[in-house]
Amino acid sequence: MGSDHAGYPMKEKVKAFLQDRSIAVEDVGTHSEKSVDYTDFGKEVARKVSDGTFERGILICGTGLGMCMVANRFRGVRAALVNDLFSAIMSRRHNDSNVLVMGGRLIGETLALQLVDVWLETPFEGGRHKRRLEKMDTAS
Ligand code: RB5
Repeated sequence: MGSDHAGYPMKEKVKAFLQDRSIAVEDVGTHSEKSVDYTDFGKEVARKVSDGTFERGILICGTGLGMCMVANRFRGVRAALVNDLFSAIMSRRHNDSNVLVMGGRLIGETLALQLVDVWLETPFEGGRHKRRLEKMDTAS
């Protein structure tokens, strides 16, 4: 997991939620509401998903936009900006998203925890969706 200052309060809530369920979490920061650059934390989480250190990552900034943009520059990363339940489900079923991005200034804690829960539990459907994902990695 990672966040900037704008996502920090939500990151702490999501981290506690995961730890309560005995899910191992590595928190790359930030560790306060002091202003930082979201790119630094987004890169760190995306790199660890891209190189296979972790299967999944969660990133939170104010809107989720910057984190999503930076994470998707890493090979093999499929970061999804998700602020509603339908997108959380479909980002797993059809897009096999491996990084969940949320906007800490856009949604409340209850919804954020529901999104995380659904995103972790929903499987990828494979089949035609796998073929489509494979096309993402070939040159345009
Ligand atoms: C920080 O002010 C804000 O720009 C950042 O959290 C994020 O929303 C960027 O996309």
